[in-house]
Amino acid sequence: MKKLLFDTHAHIDAAEFGKDLVEVWQRAQQAGVTRVINVAIDLPSARRAVDLANAHEGIYATVGVHPHFAKDFGPSQMQAMVELARQPRVVAIGETGLDFYRDRSPRDAQRQAFREQIRLARRLRLPVVIHDRNAHAETMAILKEEEAADVGGVWHCFSGDVRLAREVLAMGFFISFAGPLTYPKADSLREVARQVNLSRVLIETDCPYLTPQAHRGKRNEPAFVYYVAEALANIRGMTVERVAELTTANARRLFRIYD
Ligand code: NI
Repeated sequence: MKKLLFDTHAHIDAAEFGKDLVEVWQRAQQAGVTRVINVAIDLPSARRAVDLANAHEGIYATVGVHPHFAKDFGPSQMQAMVELARQPRVVAIGETGLDFYRDRSPRDAQRQAFREQIRLARRLRLPVVIHDRNAHAETMAILKEEEAADVGGVWHCFSGDVRLAREVLAMGFFISFAGPLTYPKADSLREVARQVNLSRVLIETDCPYLTPQAHRGKRNEPAFVYYVAEALANIRGMTVERVAELTTANARRLFRIYD
């Protein structure tokens, strides 16, 4: 039985992996995780993401600024991002969006950085990795106003309800499930997973955060995307292998990864 899992959202360039990234990547491959997208949160992490992607077959990069760091986003950063984003192993722009839960950057700065990154994605013909926390309606409104469906993307670590999921899919976007799908209290999220069209679903770890229930309290890592696949398989009454096959094919389609 061959599992070919794709962790579509990881932060393995983070300091948490500074000491043992080689072992982390080996464990991922042993668990059947053959592809990982390292998602940038700011310009330095975008540079690290591109370096990692250039150094390892199976690792891909995004370039973008997380809403937490939107306050630092300006014209000089944009210029550097454009150059980085043209690198061949960059598969998306992001993560970008709105975080009205932590509000680490002023909301206007978040909105501005989000809009400009959607425009960049459209200019470069790359999909967008979307971060939304406590900002469902406004995230959707900006995606529509900026015509993000033109390039598509993924609503990462989806936390909305069935209705929002349907709306997101109807616009042509994908949704992605992470560790919270395994949490005992996440019944409403499992209801979304029960009902969505699986041709538009991705899986991810968002490591080092959001560790699945089986290892909760410890650092998350790409190998643990298996638990997200397993949770989805249980919810849908499918095998883990079939979920792996479907979600990997979806990710390759969205990010146009053909190797
Ligand atoms: Ni993330």
